[in-house]
Amino acid sequence: MIWQLTSYWTSLVTPLIFSLLLQPPLTQLSIITQPNIVLLMADDLGIGDVGCYGNDTIRTPNIDQLAKEGVKLTQHIAAAPLCTPSRAAFLTGRYPIRSGMDAINNYRVIFWNGGSGGLPPNETTFAKILQQQGYSTGLIGKWHQGVNCESRNDHCHHPLNHGFDYFYGMPFTLISDCQPNETPEMDRAFRRKLWLSTQMIGLVTLTAALGRLTGLISVRWKMLICLAGFSLLFFISWFSSYGFVRYWNCIMMRNHEVTEQPMVTDRTTSLILRESISFIERNKHKPFLLFLSFLHSHTPLLTTEKFLGRSHHGLYGDNVEEMDWMVGQVLEVIDKEGLKNTTLVYFASDHGGWLERQEGKRQLGGWNGIYRGGKAMGGWEGGIRVPGIFRWPGVLPAATVIDEPTSLMDIYPTVVHLAGGVLPQDRVIDGRDLMPLLRGTVEHSEHEFLFHYCGIHLHAVRWHQKDSGAIWKAHYVTPVFRPLGAGACYDRGFCPCFGEGVTHHDPPLLFDLSRDPSEAKPLSPDTEPLFDTVIRKMGRAIEEHRRTLTPVPEQLSVYNVVWKPWLQPCCGTFPFCWCDKEGDNKLANL
Ligand SMILES: *[C@@H]1O[C@H](CO)[C@@H](O)[C@H](O)[C@H]1NC(C)=O
Ligand SMILES: *[C@@H]1O[C@H](CO)[C@@H](O)[C@H](O)[C@H]1NC(C)=O
Ligand SMILES: *[C@@H]1O[C@H](CO)[C@@H](O)[C@H](O)[C@H]1NC(C)=O
Repeated sequence: MIWQLTSYWTSLVTPLIFSLLLQPPLTQLSIITQPNIVLLMADDLGIGDVGCYGNDTIRTPNIDQLAKEGVKLTQHIAAAPLCTPSRAAFLTGRYPIRSGMDAINNYRVIFWNGGSGGLPPNETTFAKILQQQGYSTGLIGKWHQGVNCESRNDHCHHPLNHGFDYFYGMPFTLISDCQPNETPEMDRAFRRKLWLSTQMIGLVTLTAALGRLTGLISVRWKMLICLAGFSLLFFISWFSSYGFVRYWNCIMMRNHEVTEQPMVTDRTTSLILRESISFIERNKHKPFLLFLSFLHSHTPLLTTEKFLGRSHHGLYGDNVEEMDWMVGQVLEVIDKEGLKNTTLVYFASDHGGWLERQEGKRQLGGWNGIYRGGKAMGGWEGGIRVPGIFRWPGVLPAATVIDEPTSLMDIYPTVVHLAGGVLPQDRVIDGRDLMPLLRGTVEHSEHEFLFHYCGIHLHAVRWHQKDSGAIWKAHYVTPVFRPLGAGACYDRGFCPCFGEGVTHHDPPLLFDLSRDPSEAKPLSPDTEPLFDTVIRKMGRAIEEHRRTLTPVPEQLSVYNVVWKPWLQPCCGTFPFCWCDKEGDNKLANL
C-alpha cells in the first residue's frame, strides 16, 4: 500500500521535476505552441543578391534586419533547382520524385494553367495539417502546382484543395509573356511548333477536302468540319502571337474565382501586398499560417515606378529592392498588431538565380555569389543553395549564423510540430524538424545525406561527416556548359538534366564544400586519402535512398503538361475568357 502510494506520488512529481530541469533555455514550451507562421518565399532570387549574405550594393535592409533578429542559415538547400519541383518538395516535405512532381523529360515545370499535371490530391501539405490544427491558412502570390485534373473547375490541384483556406494570386507563374511590352519568352518557343502544327493540320484538311470533292477519298462532312475548325483554331492561336499565352496563363484568382484574365500587371504588386496585410489583420486573433509566395524577383520583374531606377543593378536590382520593401511592410504589420513575439517568420528563395536570363548585356536573373552554377542545375551549389532566415524573438536566438546543412523540406516537420500536429505515417517525409538546431539545443542538423536531383536524375549527393565537419559532395552527372567553360548553358537558356547535354563522371567529381565552397578543384585519390572511402559510403547511401522510392504517376508527363482547352480556367464562356473584377476597386495607397 505504502509502496503504491509512493509510486503514485513519484509518478506525479517526477514529470514535474523533469519538466523544470529540462526547461528550454529561452522560453517555456507552453508559450511556443501554435505560433503564427509567416513564410516569405522569393522567386528565382540568388543567394548572392541579399545584403546579409554578402551583397554590398543591393539594398535589402528588411531581410538583413530579419537575420539580425534571428537565425541565418548559410547552407539552406532547395530540393530541386526549378520552381514546380522545388515548391512541391517544400509543401510536402518530400523529394519531388516521391510525388511525381519532377521531370522525366525536358518538361521540368508546369507550362499551362490548362495542363492536367499538378500536386496530387493525395499529397498532404503542411497547410493541410495546420488547417486541421485550427490554423487559418492563406496563400498569397505564386502557386505553380497545377489547377485541374479532368474538368475546367474541378480544381483538384488548387491551393484550396491543398489545405489553404484562402488564396489570392497566380495559379501559374510570372513569365515575360504577362507583360505586353516585353519580349515574350514562352510564346517564342511555342510559336514555331504551333506554326508547324498549323501547317500540318491545314495540309490534312486541304487533302481531305480535295479528296472529298474529287471523290477519291471518302471523308465525312462532320470530320471535315472538325478538321477545318481545328486548323482555324491553330491559325488564330498562331496569328494572335503572344496574346494567347497571356490570356491562358497570366491570370489572377481569388479562391476559386478568376479575378483578372489577363492580369493587370501594373497593380499586381500593390494587390499582393494589400491582400497579405489584410490576411494578417483578419486573422490576428487566432493562429494563422501565411505563405506569401512572391512573384518577385522572376522575370519580367514587375516593378512599380517608385522603385524603377533606384538600385545599382538595373531592373533586376530594382525588383529585389522592391521585394525587400514589401517584406518590411509585412513585418511592420506584424509588429503593429503586437504579434512579433508570437510569430515565426521565415524567408527563403525557391532555388538559385537564373544565370542565362540576359537581354543583350543586361542581366535579368539573380546572382549566386561564390557558388557555381544556377537555376535549373540540380547538382551545382548555385542552383540549390538559397538564403534561409528564421526569426522568432524570445524563442530563437538573435544574430545567429548556422552553417549546418538544412533543406527547404525541413519547414514541413518544423511547422507541423509547432502547430501540435503529427506527421503523416504512411509515407516518407524527407524534411527534419529544425527547432532544436535553431534554438541551439543540438549542434548538428539531422541531415547526414542530401540527394541533389535534376528532374528524376540524381546528379549529386552531399554527405555531412559530422565527426570531421567535412561536407563532401560527389557529382555523378554535370551539365555541359555552353559555350564551354562559361559556367552556364547560355545558348539553351537552361542546362539540361540528361542526354547529350550532360557529362557522366566515374569516378564522381568529389569536393569538400567546407574547404572549397565554390567547387573549384575536384579532389582525386592522390590529393584526398579518404577519396575511396567517401565514394563508397555515398554509394551505399544512394542504394538505401533508392530503396525508399516507389513509382508514382508522373505529373509532368507530356500528356499532363500539354494545354487542354477543357481544363483552361476561364472567367467567361470558353473560349471567350476575359475579365477584370479588380477594376472598380480603389487601390489602397500602399
Ligand atoms: C550583388 O547583386 C548584384 C545583382 O544580382 C550582382 O550583380 C553583384 O555582383 C552582387 N554583389 C556581390 C558583392 O555579390
Ligand atoms: C518580445 O521578446 C523580446 C525578446 O525576448 C522581449 O525583449 C520583449 O519584451 C517581448 N515583447 C513582448 C511584447 O512580450
Ligand atoms: C497517391 O496516389 C498514387 C496513385 O494512386 C499512388 O501511387 C501514391 O503512392 C499515392 N501517394 C500517397 C502519398 O499516398
